[in-house]
Amino acid sequence: MEKMEILSSLRITKTVLAILSLVLLSNIRVQAQGILLLPSEKQSQRDLSTSKIGEGATTNAHDSILKFVNSSSFPNRETFPRGFFFGAGTSAPQIEGGSHEGGRGLGILDVVYSGDNKYVTKIEHYQRYKEDVQRLKHLGVNSYRFSISWNRVIPDGTLKGGVNKEGIEFYNNLINELLNNDIEPFVTILHFDYPLALQQNIGGFLNRSIVKHFKDYSELLFKTYGDRVKYWTTMNEPELQAMYNYMDNLGHLSTEDCATTKVCTEVYTVLHNLLISHATISKLYKSKFQTVQEGEIGIAISAKSFVPYSSKPQDVDAAQRLIEFQFGWVLEPLFKGDYPKIMRKLVGKRLPEFTKNEKEMLKGSTDFIGINYYFSLFVRHEPNRTKIPASDNFDALAVTEVLNVEGNTLGYYDQYGCSYVYPEGLYNFLLYINKKYKNPRIYITENGIPSFNIPNPLKDEHRTAYIAAHINATKAAINDGLNVGGYFAWAAFDTYDFDDGYSKHMGLYHINFDDSLKRIPTKTAKWYKKYLTLDSVH
Ligand SMILES: *[C@@H]1O[C@H](CO)[C@@H](O)[C@H](O)[C@H]1NC(C)=O
Ligand SMILES: *[C@@H]1O[C@H](CO)[C@@H](O)[C@H](O)[C@H]1NC(C)=O
Ligand SMILES: *[C@@H]1O[C@H](CO)[C@@H](O)[C@H](O)[C@H]1NC(C)=O
Ligand SMILES: *[C@@H]1O[C@H](CO)[C@@H](O)[C@H](O)[C@H]1NC(C)=O
Repeated sequence: MEKMEILSSLRITKTVLAILSLVLLSNIRVQAQGILLLPSEKQSQRDLSTSKIGEGATTNAHDSILKFVNSSSFPNRETFPRGFFFGAGTSAPQIEGGSHEGGRGLGILDVVYSGDNKYVTKIEHYQRYKEDVQRLKHLGVNSYRFSISWNRVIPDGTLKGGVNKEGIEFYNNLINELLNNDIEPFVTILHFDYPLALQQNIGGFLNRSIVKHFKDYSELLFKTYGDRVKYWTTMNEPELQAMYNYMDNLGHLSTEDCATTKVCTEVYTVLHNLLISHATISKLYKSKFQTVQEGEIGIAISAKSFVPYSSKPQDVDAAQRLIEFQFGWVLEPLFKGDYPKIMRKLVGKRLPEFTKNEKEMLKGSTDFIGINYYFSLFVRHEPNRTKIPASDNFDALAVTEVLNVEGNTLGYYDQYGCSYVYPEGLYNFLLYINKKYKNPRIYITENGIPSFNIPNPLKDEHRTAYIAAHINATKAAINDGLNVGGYFAWAAFDTYDFDDGYSKHMGLYHINFDDSLKRIPTKTAKWYKKYLTLDSVH
């Protein structure tokens, strides 16, 4: 099946479900299989069926990139700055398993996937972390991005409910194992999943009082692991966590004007509370831990270049608005202390206000920006509410498009990954961030392509081409003077995708579910290793 991948979206669509399912108490799994194609994905499928991009284009594009990778013009590992991180990433809810082991409490996602045994066991990273660290070492990476499960260390989310020693020990062991193998731990504190009890008892991030619990949890992490962990990401893609959970309302959009619906107010409350949570723990880290522990604390966002659909001023303005609504929504408060003006204007009273103290706390609360980049999209002016939410925001009066007015795409369509490949979009996004926020520290925290439509997932040359082209784009930005400190391929291992289970084969290590979850390096893993260990790819 041809399927345009809206990666970031897909990875969390079910988070969305998780939260509403708690309210609806319905069988989400069934729903998920049926109607949970994101509307924008359907849109893309329609676009694709009429577009002329085919196998030839993909193959030619791959070949030319792979030739380039073999040439002396491809930037060598040693041309990157000293201390540059080359890593790979995962998240706890996508690989750990051991959901009912070692005293772990349930997370919101456990409810959604309780019927899916693969979600419950996942790739058994919880049991096999030692072996997995050896795989990472073999891969040649000098860093590994992973997330800690809040409900594994604090089962009901509150200190009052108690700390789980076994959970604490698991991450102690993982961190030590990484460091013993010269792999820098790059740790995410909140990656979509959080304690179910907090959702049930206080309404999760809709309730401002979650900030206190998030602070307690984070303080425990800084105290326990901060002597060894020097790179903290407070949260992963908070804007998507808010958008899909609320404004998109699981794709159950009413025809009602967004401004009058509950979810279109809640979306801003949730992100507001996420930002206050971020700033609160960042302040805590900076005031109590940073001088002694000498680490960095930042946030990771989902990135895209938004390109006007046409040269009409309306579309140019729409692209600019969506940039403010998606990226400015998170980054303007963190750098300047408040939401973008255009959001105040268009969202009005639904957009919460920060107090003076909060503004002060927010400003300068991030040492780095983590960038999760997969592909880019066009943006068209759309004054009417449409049924195309995805990363669009109704209040921005803009919708994303795969094709522009002339029928062109951004980059080439990769038939194996079922996605567009547009490294220039990463480069341009980096330049945008650099200019707007005055040369901040940046890490590429996620970048990758699925092996969806591929006979043998071990033969993933298309992924080699994809990753190489994005490493090349990263290097181009560094050559321009940007402060980029690392590149993390997504993902180290096949991860459980919140919509597609394991069918995307995102991992550099393929997991064989028919043979005791054996980890097998793909062609791309072998290429990455060669590249990283300077084992002459040329
Ligand atoms: C690149 O080099 C490798 C070995 O060094 C070779 O196997 C591969 O075929 C080359 N690819 C292209 C497209 O030239
Ligand atoms: C928010 O949390 C507090 C406890 O901290 C609780 O008393 C209150 O009912 C919660 N509000 C909602 C709307 O759930
Ligand atoms: C918006 O909706 C109105 C009324 O349904 C319609 O007349 C108008 O053409 C629509 N505008 C666009 C850009 O689709
Ligand atoms: C590699 O980066 C350079 C800019 O430094 C760019 O001109 C070139 O097109 C890139 N190549 C690929 C295959 O993306």
